[in-house]
Amino acid sequence: NEDGYDLWLRYRLVADSNLLSRYRAAFTHVVVQGNHAVLRSAGAELARGLSGLLGRSIPVRDQIGRGAVVVGTKANDALGAEGFTIKRRTDRVEITAAGERGALYGAFRFLQQLQRQRPLDHLDLTDRPASPLRMLNHWDNLNRSIERGYAGKSIFVWDELPGLRERYVDYARVLASVGINHTVINNVNASAEFLRSERLPGLAALAGVLRSWGVRLWLSANYAAPITLTAGQSSPITVADPLDARVQQWWQDKIDEIYRLIPDFGGFLVKANSEGQPGPLDYGRTHAEGANMLADRLAAYDGKLVWRSFVHEGFDDWAEYQYRVFQPLDGQFHANAVVQTKNGPIDFQVREPVNPLFGGLPQTNQMIELQVTQEYTGHSTHLCYLVPEWKSILGFQTHTGTGSGPSVADIVTGVAYDQENVGLAGVVNLGDDRDWTGYQLGAANTHGFARLAWNPKLSADEIVTEWIELTFGGDRQVGSVLKAIMLRSWETYESYTSPLGMGYLTYPLGSHFAPAPTTTQNLSHHTTAEGTGFDRTAATGSGFTGLYAEHWQNIYGSLENCPDELLLFMHWVPYTHRLRSGKTMIQHIYDSHFDGYERVVEFRRAWGRLAGRVDQARYADIAATFDAHVIEAERWRDTIVAYFYGFSRIVSSGTGWLQL
Ligand code: GCU
Repeated sequence: NEDGYDLWLRYRLVADSNLLSRYRAAFTHVVVQGNHAVLRSAGAELARGLSGLLGRSIPVRDQIGRGAVVVGTKANDALGAEGFTIKRRTDRVEITAAGERGALYGAFRFLQQLQRQRPLDHLDLTDRPASPLRMLNHWDNLNRSIERGYAGKSIFVWDELPGLRERYVDYARVLASVGINHTVINNVNASAEFLRSERLPGLAALAGVLRSWGVRLWLSANYAAPITLTAGQSSPITVADPLDARVQQWWQDKIDEIYRLIPDFGGFLVKANSEGQPGPLDYGRTHAEGANMLADRLAAYDGKLVWRSFVHEGFDDWAEYQYRVFQPLDGQFHANAVVQTKNGPIDFQVREPVNPLFGGLPQTNQMIELQVTQEYTGHSTHLCYLVPEWKSILGFQTHTGTGSGPSVADIVTGVAYDQENVGLAGVVNLGDDRDWTGYQLGAANTHGFARLAWNPKLSADEIVTEWIELTFGGDRQVGSVLKAIMLRSWETYESYTSPLGMGYLTYPLGSHFAPAPTTTQNLSHHTTAEGTGFDRTAATGSGFTGLYAEHWQNIYGSLENCPDELLLFMHWVPYTHRLRSGKTMIQHIYDSHFDGYERVVEFRRAWGRLAGRVDQARYADIAATFDAHVIEAERWRDTIVAYFYGFSRIVSSGTGWLQL
């Protein structure tokens, strides 16, 4: 029964019978060269994949014979530790890499060629990842609830550890298949309990599973853990001041203890002094001092410290806060410390300008944090394929260096400032639901994030095509219909939710799903009877536009130059303000909401035409999601249109609807 569990790792019998017999003749056994757990994983995956795809048992053998698929390592400076080559020789295929992880990635890539039914007679492929840190962030709690998770409970059954579930292996395979090499397994709103000594052997067992698939385990650390975990002892620690000797010693001991059990432990991710979390500011220290205290202790073990810049307390304009706090600290973070910055200055809204901290921290290792789980983009009900959004963010030219660069992609791949501790973190959408992501099309975001982390130059079209072929096979009509839907889904979601960059029209303290525009007055908009938006200009508003390079100041700061899609983020304008399209702002709000809803109805219809082309179980499951999506899109449309009509009392000049 097709239930989505395999995600894109579907090794079903190759449908094209001609190709199948050619594959069968060409690939008869697997040979692993070298003795390393990751290489054995590669061999096992090749055997498993080929057996499924070719419909016959493909063994792992010791000797290379005709038809061998050989995987192994060989010194090669050009490829880096994680790159690989796949080469077809007359009588075999060779998958080689300088490091074991590269070999594993090559094995998966080879299988994907077969899944996608590519002719492999002249296979000659080389690839390597662009960014060093390709990381997942799980927001999973000790009780297995997931903050902003929409796919059931945590995959990790903490209280059962060191007992291991089969699913952990599949989880690790999923990550390795798209090149994810680091994972932070608990929520940034971190329980100190994760660091309790009694827990560590269990986490070490989990780390062992991940290790054999080339993935390093990380933990989110609660900055006040020394206080929490010594409470009740004879002389408890009562502060978490990074300059306090006892606090330092406590962390030193904890880090020593962790590395005794998990020699390849990745490091800590820390959310400090944000949304009620403890941190160094509680003791008059800076974020950099707080981060370095931990980074220095991790450095001895080749560990890293990732410190989030997501802080927003106490300012009228939330958008500016991170920059004002972190930019002055540029250059103060130590070499193995990394600042992780959300893509935008607010909080994963459907559209935000790029956070001005990109380009603002040239002397700091920086990662970008993208949200794969659809907190503000429809949970597991609205289809919203985020790769086009992420592409636009990564492609953003900051104009802070020479020419128009560096771009965000340049920064997080290390090209901009010649750095190695940089990369992409995705707040992930995985849970213990059978299909992992709560709705089957949501897996495209998981896949897409990882593929962009591997190579931000891939186009959204290439990435979605790959995902569709791996997930649904080669049916042309399925491919073209689904691709068209997915590539339009982000702008569609935007059009019936948040107009012109306004963002945040959902109750801030709630689940961030349903529309509630009245609750974000002042946070994301200043709506009156005359107009709406948020004046963030340097000239008359909050000053946010002044945080960008001059090029962008001139664009965002001016009503004439500001792109329409960010107009209401940067400016407050009257309802009658004319957009580039010639429409008034209010008319645009009305029209885009109605058009967007209609497009969702079209999505559902288009999917309906694929009945019989996709297995019944997955077809019906996805159809049901579209049914719910239509209902929720309608709710958004009506709420937002009514809200702005209520203030403006301007009747639509459009035809056919809103006959008042
Ligand atoms: C958002 C989200 C929180 C999360 C926070 C963060 O505000 O709603 O649940 O903890 O981001 O990223 O730290």
